[in-house]
Amino acid sequence: MDPRVRLIDFPIVHEPRGNLSFIEGQRQIPFDIQRVYYLYDVPGGAVRGGHAHKNLQQVIIALSGSFDVVVDDGTDRKKISLNRSYHGLYLPNMIWRELENFSSGAVCLVLASAYYEEDDYIRDIAQFRTLANG
Ligand code: TYD
Repeated sequence: MDPRVRLIDFPIVHEPRGNLSFIEGQRQIPFDIQRVYYLYDVPGGAVRGGHAHKNLQQVIIALSGSFDVVVDDGTDRKKISLNRSYHGLYLPNMIWRELENFSSGAVCLVLASAYYEEDDYIRDIAQFRTLANG
């Protein structure tokens, strides 16, 4: 697997009143955060993602509940389960991802390095494999 794919641990401030974690661009996150979006009310059995990005970098967080992220670098494929709000999965560009197995009430927060741009998507896995193994 591409060694750039990794889990990031966010700081945790433990208090009897509850826990607090924080995320700072260019500190915990290796890019400037240009966009934040979130997935919620995902029906059981639904699969999100199913694409790679030419340039976009993202960090994916299970803010609540759990889901699995299948990542594919064009050669290797592995499944990473996210179920902690203090873990972020860093995905650099040119990584295919599928998000599945969402628990009821799961919220998936995504931090992204650029605004939404459909031209940055690769939505065909055969095309992705060709480009990735270029
Ligand atoms: P898409 O990225 O394909 O969803 P996912 O990968 O989570 O399955 O986006 C779904 C739709 O939402 C698509 O029509 C584009 C739109 N969209 C935006 O308008 N802005 C955004 O920031 C994102 C992520 C998606």
